[in-house]
Amino acid sequence: MENFIYRNPTKLIFGKGQIEALKTEIPKYGSKVLLVYGGGSIKNNGLYEKVMTILEEINVGVFELSGVEPNPRLTTAEKGIEICKSEQIDFILAVGGGSVIDCTKLIAAGSKYDGEAWDLVIKKAFAKEALPFGTILTIAATGSEMNSGSVITNWETNEKHGWGSSVTFPQFSILDPVNTFTVPKNQTIYGIVDMMSHVLEHYFHLVENTQFQDRMCESLLITIMETAPKLLQDLENYEYRATILYCGTMALNGILNMGYAGDWGSHNIEHAVSAIYDIPHGGGLAILFPHWMEYNLHIKPARFKQLAERVFNVNAEGKSDEEVGLEGIRKLREFWNSIGAPSRLSDYKIDDSKLELMTDKATINGEFGRFARLNKEDVMAIYRASL
Ligand code: NZQ
Ligand code: ZN
Repeated sequence: MENFIYRNPTKLIFGKGQIEALKTEIPKYGSKVLLVYGGGSIKNNGLYEKVMTILEEINVGVFELSGVEPNPRLTTAEKGIEICKSEQIDFILAVGGGSVIDCTKLIAAGSKYDGEAWDLVIKKAFAKEALPFGTILTIAATGSEMNSGSVITNWETNEKHGWGSSVTFPQFSILDPVNTFTVPKNQTIYGIVDMMSHVLEHYFHLVENTQFQDRMCESLLITIMETAPKLLQDLENYEYRATILYCGTMALNGILNMGYAGDWGSHNIEHAVSAIYDIPHGGGLAILFPHWMEYNLHIKPARFKQLAERVFNVNAEGKSDEEVGLEGIRKLREFWNSIGAPSRLSDYKIDDSKLELMTDKATINGEFGRFARLNKEDVMAIYRASL
């Protein structure tokens, strides 16, 4: 294991009816609130009204930024920053999924930074201060509700990058499984693929002696795979929604990866595709991750074998580590396909016409990945295999 310091300041408020916590949490931070949300789902399912009723009750001034896009855009965050600066906002409340929360993180940090917000995303500057913000999560997927990461797209340059700082953790996150009942089937699937991918990104590392971390990762994957098919048959089942919601948070709040850092190459490869074709993040991962695995199996076959045996019940008898590993990758792909995730880039009508551009975007900061160091040639090969 490597040395580590673990700190996660986000207060997690989980369960039915926990929206009531807004009444005690928000007044701690002031009286002017910016409410940030997406394209309308919270208006359709009644959550917006519930939030507004509480905000009125606690007598705070409310400003609104609506229309945050899936794959949130820099220009939208800039609008939020403008409101925070001109109205002297005290606190931001994000109500939505990873996109709304990620956009809120840039608004929070950008409001306390004098330069261009994009500087923070491309790490030309580092966020030292941010407005406090909280979240009401409405979809299980990214883990953004309990981490400091944010992923922003610059649609002018077709770049999508992750950034974050110790000041961009939410102060609190309210996770009521009921608020995820209306997530449509396809978005539920993308979320499931995304959280599984987060666990897999952690899993592929080269650090020795991580038995407990490995078993936490494996148990999270098994739990998600046991629950996902049942949930997809019964989208308003509280217990299934609760399990998946909790798993999504645990997959990327730092608990799994104490003592080592995962690979994260597949995410980089996917972000470059989303930045050009605007596809759902989880959909892209379902296609690309298994190809990344096949391409890099040779680096440490024993790791792939362990995953195949423990999570996918592959019988290793009489087989090489590579063979067992490959069978595990095949089972992962089969599972994702069985729940309805896409398997080829052509499912999103992506052909080879922009392969060069995607590869350039993915490698804009040079080689990447910790388990597998990938250069342009490697990335191109993974894209080609995924067509
Ligand atoms: O915009 P609205 O109308 O709210 O609809 C959203 C959106 O269309 C809908 N939705 C969300 N909750 C709903 C609902 N529809 C009905 N009922 C509800 N309760 O679902 C759609 C997708 O929402 P979005 O927020 O985009 O999904 P997700 O949470 O998967 O976020 C994806 C973004 O997060 C980034 C991704 O790259 C992508 O930009 N990521 C962020 C990470 C982080 N901050 O740690 C890590 C991830 O790896 C990821 O890269
Ligand atoms: Zn992800």
